[in-house]
Amino acid sequence: MTDSMVEIRTTGSAAADLLAALHIASFAESAAEPWSPASVAAILRAPGALALIAVDPAGPGGNDDPCGLAVARCGPDDAEILALGVLPERRRHGLGGRLLAALLELLATTTTRKVLLEVAVDNHPARRLYAAHGFAEIGVRRGYYRRRPGPPVDALILARSVDPPTGFVRGSSSFVAG
Ligand SMILES: CC(C)(COP(=O)(O)OP(=O)(O)OC[C@H]1O[C@@H](n2cnc3c(N)ncnc32)[C@H](O)[C@@H]1OP(=O)(O)O)[C@@H](O)C(=O)NCCC(=O)NCCS
Repeated sequence: MTDSMVEIRTTGSAAADLLAALHIASFAESAAEPWSPASVAAILRAPGALALIAVDPAGPGGNDDPCGLAVARCGPDDAEILALGVLPERRRHGLGGRLLAALLELLATTTTRKVLLEVAVDNHPARRLYAAHGFAEIGVRRGYYRRRPGPPVDALILARSVDPPTGFVRGSSSFVAG
């Protein structure tokens, strides 16, 4: 089943409060530290920040209900996915995959040719999602996530290449015909 009504839009630091609330709700059970509005605003003001938000115009709130986010930091050669999350009640409808695909599409229009991320070794839903989108394991950070209660959890470092779209001229930020 897919959530075809849900729209994915680019956003910025003006939406820091909303993105922080989405991050807290999406990552509540995960190993990641929750983001504060101030930390999201700082991430989004930094050069190379990219943020996407998924909104449901026909959601129960009736007014562009936010339901997922994707945030990345993009350098000249590589990018890092800092967050990809979907509200628990909106999962398994293809939204995580759509957010990831949209982020990869956006990255393909930059000079970035490699994207990296960290994922907890026991986060099987996310690991399956990333594997389905071509990410491969390139390293491990032992005990990277501090969980209370419980022992620290290793982070896997995943990476994949970012292919420019057909007809894209590197460095020109534009497409050419044919
Ligand atoms: C990971 C996450 C973003 C996936 O969002 P989602 O909207 O449920 O993902 P999709 O519906 O697009 O699922 C795509 C694929 O991911 C995998 N997947 C997602 N959830 C899964 C689950 N609970 N169990 C097993 N596989 C799962 C499957 O391969 C799935 O494809 P399928 O539905 O055809 O089997 C969501 O579970 C989430 O927000 N988790 C908490 C935050 C988090 O851990 N983010 C990643 C940090 S690196």
